[in-house]
Amino acid sequence: MKHILERLAERRAEAERGGGAQRIDAQHKRGKLTARERIELLLDHGSFEEFDMFVRHRATDFGMDKQHVPGDGVVTGWGTVNGRAVYVFSKDFTVFGGSLSETHARKINKVQDMALRNRAPIIGLYDSGGARIQEGVAALGGYGEVFQRNVLASGVIPQISVIMGPCAGGDVYSPAMTDFIFMVKDTSYMFVTGPDVIKTVTNEAVSAEGLGGASVHTVKSAVADGAYENDVEALLQMRRLIDFLPSSNTDEIPEWPTFDDAERCDASLDTLAPDNPNKPYDIKELINKTVDEGDFFEIQEAFARNIVTGFGRIEGRTVGFVANQPLVLAGVLDSDASRKAARFVRFCDCFNIPIVSFVDVPGFLPGIAQEYGGLIKHGAKLLFAYAEATAPKVTIIIRKAFGGAYDVMASKHLRGDINFAWPTAQIAVMGAKGAVEIIFRQDMDDPEKIAARTREYEERFLSPFIAAERGYIDEIIMPRATRKRVARALAMLRHKELENPWKKHDNIPL
Ligand code: HXC
Repeated sequence: MKHILERLAERRAEAERGGGAQRIDAQHKRGKLTARERIELLLDHGSFEEFDMFVRHRATDFGMDKQHVPGDGVVTGWGTVNGRAVYVFSKDFTVFGGSLSETHARKINKVQDMALRNRAPIIGLYDSGGARIQEGVAALGGYGEVFQRNVLASGVIPQISVIMGPCAGGDVYSPAMTDFIFMVKDTSYMFVTGPDVIKTVTNEAVSAEGLGGASVHTVKSAVADGAYENDVEALLQMRRLIDFLPSSNTDEIPEWPTFDDAERCDASLDTLAPDNPNKPYDIKELINKTVDEGDFFEIQEAFARNIVTGFGRIEGRTVGFVANQPLVLAGVLDSDASRKAARFVRFCDCFNIPIVSFVDVPGFLPGIAQEYGGLIKHGAKLLFAYAEATAPKVTIIIRKAFGGAYDVMASKHLRGDINFAWPTAQIAVMGAKGAVEIIFRQDMDDPEKIAARTREYEERFLSPFIAAERGYIDEIIMPRATRKRVARALAMLRHKELENPWKKHDNIPL
């Protein structure tokens, strides 16, 4: 009996060694942790239950029949994050470069299936050379099986990808279909085709970092939702993110203890929006002062900074925040901001996370580049996302809500549940100057007349009262009471029930 137990211990130890001490050293020298070390940090201590530790590939070509490492380049299983179940797969770069074989894919499929069946989030940690070159179509088929499961799980359970090393070829498309992608600065990159192929095909010279590093994907392409300094920070932040997310689309929103009084007022907010409508201020100050304990997890912080998206909590329960940012491009909606916010709103709605929108938007960005770039379709994405969302929607107009952007930003007309405005709100077709220049064009040579007309327009339209008179604004609230009013609205909406008409699926303007 003792012999049998020892044999198990030996086989486990062999699997845990992965590609061996030398390759593990090389991994550490690059500032990267191993697949198992990463799982240890991600999950609650001692909670990891591994599956398929002894799986071996079945390839025989190119000498593969003589090369077997138990586990086949990916560590899979489940564990808990702060007590809540999550499934995980972690690519082991020390084993065949973490490349995906048929059996490696089957291991991932098993945890994908279990996560979906048991309704818990799944997290993939990527560090891989793509398709196992020695396997050919078996590996391609394996990717297809992973992709199909990503799609079926989309909107049912949260799916998160963390890129912690190379991620190329077939490996990029699975993360791209998950809800969030995070990267590690300097050690990770993502691309469909690498620098060498690009050089051959287009004669462009670029480094791996310059082609698909964290700064590319968090700032330029928006493929990634955030980047962290190192593996440890990335994994600890993933634990924080998981705490915000429901386990599935039928599960309750997680509720954590909070010591922050929901009735807390903040007098400093009364002077947050400057009197001069052209002066910017930081909308994140309002978010931070609204959420429990100032704890805000921002999504796509470095991309389209004219809109802010992320998760906070009110009364211990998760809320998705969308806020125009007057500090960047005056908070205007352009194609990038619309795409970014639309995807975030849709994520929240999938999981019935209430959406709180802070509005200060001078309109959609005019410009040839914007129009050529499809602003109509991109703007429509955000409009569509807000309009189809049935999760609780609470909107507060802080200052400007001009033109089509007024409608788009979770207005009453898009089934906003509670629509507040600060007394500083200005709800109009456009700003006073632009309006007067159009409707009083004949007076343009007379500055006094124009000044009088501008004042008249400001007094008549640039306030929240006309919208409030029509019931488009439910109430004009004191800025200092924002947290309290939002908390009460969300409490009232806790059991909201609203369904869209049956359809196979909608046709959002992609
Ligand atoms: C098999 C692989 C591998 C792969 C790496 N290795 N990639 N084995 N299949 N795809 C192995 C190496 O042979 C090596 O084994 C070990 O992993 C580490 O690789 P190195 O090259 O020494 O490491 P490094 O210098 O850090 O370079 C990492 C790398 C490079 C940039 C990822 O290995 C690379 O370019 N790999 C190939 C990438 C690729 O073209 N993949 C196919 C993509 S096509 P030893 O034994 O020496 O440790 C694809 C199509 C799918 O994925 C499409 C589906 C839709």
